[in-house]
Amino acid sequence: MASVDPSVAVLPLYRLTNVTFKYDGGQIALNEISFSVKPGERVALLGANGCGKSTLLKIMGGLQYPASGVVEAFGEPLTAERLDKDQNAHLFRRRVGFVFQNSDAQLFSPTVADELAFGPVHMGLTAEEVEARVKSVAELTGIEHLINRAPFQISGGEKKRVALACTLATNPDVILMDEPTAALDPRAQSWLLDLLNRLHEAGKTFIIATHDLETVAQIADTVIVFREDHTIAAVLPAGELGNNMELLVQVNLVHEHLHRHGSTLHTHPHGHGVEHTHEHDNL
Ligand SMILES: Nc1ncnc2c1ncn2[C@@H]1O[C@H](COP(=O)(O)OP(=O)(O)O)[C@@H](O)[C@H]1O
Ligand SMILES: [Mg+2]
Repeated sequence: MASVDPSVAVLPLYRLTNVTFKYDGGQIALNEISFSVKPGERVALLGANGCGKSTLLKIMGGLQYPASGVVEAFGEPLTAERLDKDQNAHLFRRRVGFVFQNSDAQLFSPTVADELAFGPVHMGLTAEEVEARVKSVAELTGIEHLINRAPFQISGGEKKRVALACTLATNPDVILMDEPTAALDPRAQSWLLDLLNRLHEAGKTFIIATHDLETVAQIADTVIVFREDHTIAAVLPAGELGNNMELLVQVNLVHEHLHRHGSTLHTHPHGHGVEHTHEHDNL
């Protein structure tokens, strides 16, 4: 009998095949995208603004559907017809959580406590179970002190914590996050990276859209690099990104800068938003 390769035995959690998406005006946002995601894997969707990352996350979250191609999640096709059936939608929404780029799009309850309770209540948990869930996610995300506040009265960084806590409150297997580190100060960023690590160790699967080269190796195992023409340029282990500067320049994540140091001209690549100094800059 032939031996079974254990890596083949793990079914992908998501499998996308030739997915193409067009917005109403006919503008292509994703062009023939194919990849798969294994359970427990952390995948970064990396690309310049406008390449289609948010569109892809919405497709993977069952919020919109491709013009062509096939999306399978948990071994089943993810289609409008299937999600129209309440039972399928319920199960899918329980297993997949979405943290939007703009926390305001996600927060609508009068208090943070109500916000956290919303998902668990809709899952049909008892009042005691809901209370226990709210307490445990508030602790996990360090927002106990915000629990009686109104979401619109708290800071951007605090909103991000609350939005993440709401997503975690239904205990999803997969967490889709859109630009989670954008607009966070360094301390909030390092808190977030630490929490994502702990959730990863607990077995969660992450799909994270980002254009942040600085944090991508810390949040992902696998990086899917998008071109500005909405196709995939490469699928790489996160640790190998640094060896692919030419690729990063091509996809507009790094720009080739011309520098003048005294009388010397040289070029080298820069990440967007990355501070850069030379010892001899202030001559
Ligand atoms: N609601 C929309 N209507 C029309 N075009 C859109 C809409 N949302 C995004 N697009 C376009 O689709 C492309 C991909 O956008 P998006 O998925 O937001 O990219 P990213 O998240 O990588 O910045 C862009 O060209 C963008 O202008
Ligand atoms: Mg986006």
